[in-house]
Amino acid sequence: MREQWNSRTGFVLAAVGSAIGIGNIWRFPYMAYDNGGGAFLIPYFFAMLTAGVPFLIMEFALGHRYKSAAPLTFHAIKARWEGLGWWQVLVCLVISFYYVVVLGWTVCYLFLSFHQSWGNDPSSYFFKDFLKLTAGPLHTGGMRWPIVAANVFCWLATWVVLWRGVRAGIERVSKIFMPVLFVLVLILLVRAVTLPGAADGLNWLFRPDFSHLWDYKVWTAAYGQIFFTLSIGFGIMIAYSSYLPDDADITNNGFITVFINCGFSLLAGTMVFGVLGFMAAQQGVPIKEVVSQGVGLAFATIPAALNMMPAAGIFGIVFFLALLFAGFSSFLSVVEACIAPLMEKLGWTRTRAVSVLCGVGLVGSLPFSTGGGLLVLDIVDHFINNYGIVFGGLAEIILIAWFGRLAEMREYVNQVSDFPLGSWWAVCLKVVTPLTLGVMAVSNLVGDLAQPYGGYPLTALIAFGWALMAAIGLGAWWLATKRWAY
Ligand code: PHE
Repeated sequence: MREQWNSRTGFVLAAVGSAIGIGNIWRFPYMAYDNGGGAFLIPYFFAMLTAGVPFLIMEFALGHRYKSAAPLTFHAIKARWEGLGWWQVLVCLVISFYYVVVLGWTVCYLFLSFHQSWGNDPSSYFFKDFLKLTAGPLHTGGMRWPIVAANVFCWLATWVVLWRGVRAGIERVSKIFMPVLFVLVLILLVRAVTLPGAADGLNWLFRPDFSHLWDYKVWTAAYGQIFFTLSIGFGIMIAYSSYLPDDADITNNGFITVFINCGFSLLAGTMVFGVLGFMAAQQGVPIKEVVSQGVGLAFATIPAALNMMPAAGIFGIVFFLALLFAGFSSFLSVVEACIAPLMEKLGWTRTRAVSVLCGVGLVGSLPFSTGGGLLVLDIVDHFINNYGIVFGGLAEIILIAWFGRLAEMREYVNQVSDFPLGSWWAVCLKVVTPLTLGVMAVSNLVGDLAQPYGGYPLTALIAFGWALMAAIGLGAWWLATKRWAY
């Protein structure tokens, strides 16, 4: 018997746990700021409704109907497309290799934040002392053992949760982590908006610059963010919904997941820009000079802001705990998306699949734990986002919307859901989403060919980017030729 979620809330919280990740905290605010501020919300909500909601409902429907992870689901629809499922699984596997490293840093920073042990210059502390960053991605600079130790801790925690399975593991963790995460972020939000100068930050974030709306790049950025933030196109949501009971609702659950996730992004954006406004005011510089995203925001800018705040210890702990909770629940989903198909293909027990995967994962995360690790991570992440996810999502939508008997699927969804899907659903999936993903795929490719990413040496881009993508493609093809155990 396939495992099942215990309750509807449990499933929704697990899906929300996957969707809400560090992307909501450190990617969304910057995307909005960089793409027209308040005006970005127009393409963002447009992308949410025309691609996010329909695609998520489609993935929920696939998992619910075929009761299997991506490879077997695609195999059931058209046997020759099984490789697409493995492509998504391998993409998830690679993501897990570096996502865990970021979780590891977060664990370390949680402890550092007790006494702001990053000192007076958090940026230099992070890059020089903590990461011991080398001059380029090809200079490893040796292992950073404290980071490896943090990785081991995170993989062990993951092993424990996933070994316990869907109900006693993922569902239980999500039911605790998600509500706590909301409370943590609300605490941070109240602190942030009451800091002097916060209003300026919010002005920058939300002040609409409508001229950006004419730039197609803003629209592709919005679609890209929606795919990333909802964890769609990676096979993750197919795996999660494969554990739904037969009588579960699909449409409503899809809407709820999307709204909670995107609402959370707005909260996080307000929090982050409140803090940035405060920092700019303290230093007497324009916000442009303090604004940052990603790793720099979490591990350099926020610690610097904490240094300027009263009761920094408490807010530091709350911030890094929030980052850890958000990240860990996404991490569980990305690993589960690899475990479920492994069990199906090879007939392995959960214990065996989880143990092998966590072991492989630990080894896979070693290159990202070296002195050059952050640079390797940056390259791999760029290629995974721009090609792994975009091309996987594009192939998936073409397969399902054009060759997968979409009308029949809509009927299926409507039978089990609280309220019926209109024909808009099919239009979005057949036309809007493939078109935007197609434009994204082409413009990513053209952009990278015209100008090598990030000014890295070509050998590094080939090794950690192009060759990696080729390896994923070959691996997916090879896995698809193997026999199923069931
Ligand atoms: N939705 C996640 C986020 O916003 C993205 C993600 C999910 C990344 C799962 C990795 C694994 O951070």
